[in-house]
Amino acid sequence: MPNKRFVILTGATGTLGKAVCGQLLAEGYHPILVARDIHKLKALQQVHPEQVTVFACDVSDITAIDELFRQPFLQTGALCGVIACAGILTMGATANFAQCDWDAIMQTNLTGTFAVFKQAIPHMQPHGGSLIAIGSRWASGAKTATAYAASKAGLRGMIASMQKEYAGTNIRPVLISPGSIASPMSGSVNNGARPLDILQPEDVANTILHVLSSSQRVIFNEIIMLAYNYDLTDEYAV
Ligand SMILES: NC(=O)c1ccc[n+]([C@@H]2O[C@H](COP(=O)([O-])OP(=O)(O)OC[C@H]3O[C@@H](n4cnc5c(N)ncnc54)[C@H](OP(=O)(O)O)[C@@H]3O)[C@@H](O)[C@H]2O)c1
Repeated sequence: MPNKRFVILTGATGTLGKAVCGQLLAEGYHPILVARDIHKLKALQQVHPEQVTVFACDVSDITAIDELFRQPFLQTGALCGVIACAGILTMGATANFAQCDWDAIMQTNLTGTFAVFKQAIPHMQPHGGSLIAIGSRWASGAKTATAYAASKAGLRGMIASMQKEYAGTNIRPVLISPGSIASPMSGSVNNGARPLDILQPEDVANTILHVLSSSQRVIFNEIIMLAYNYDLTDEYAV
């Protein structure tokens, strides 16, 4: 197997993505950082010029994803994981929700994750790897987050189906569904939460790294991780 252990990380410039990137580097992986804003990606690359590769790509654009998987750098190592953190949230009453917002949420959170996973599989099959989708506790339903909840519930069906399809092979699809993470995304909704009560990005990144580096004989069904002192008590409690 080539030396570099590549992991494609979408949403790499976000709150969770940055925490995951740090832990990937600490564990000796070579992250391929994906997001739309090239300036934010380059800022991350400047910190670790040799250890990361960046690729600006909108995961809702199938052509751009095709281009990512045609990059020659992928031939210089083994792709052993994809962590799909790219995601967007728009809240709003269902009756007034803009169709374009629904489409963007579904295309980014659900279709984009599928498209990246689909293209990654042939690259991982020679040696095996993990496809880690980031869901949400809101997949079970959250008031005025209909599109977001639907997109994350879609990931549930997608990963459960892929687990049945790839069982017995070296491809491991896993869904990690966190509760509120201390981030601008959750802050826009849960601004009353005490920061220390909600999940920290590192908490979720730790779990992602555990899944990624665990033995291929282990499968994780869906990992729902919640902030004990917050997610079980707020109005969206599952
Ligand atoms: N924050 C929470 O409380 C929470 C809780 C449960 C689950 N989650 C999930 O965890 C994931 C990360 O959340 P976060 O808080 O880190 O969000 P964030 O800080 O808003 O980061 C989102 C990331 O996704 C990228 N992105 C958005 N649309 C994209 C697209 N079409 N193509 C490629 N990249 C795109 C953004 O970069 P560009 O804008 O440059 O593309 C950014 O890097 C999301 O899937 C979210 O749904 C979050």
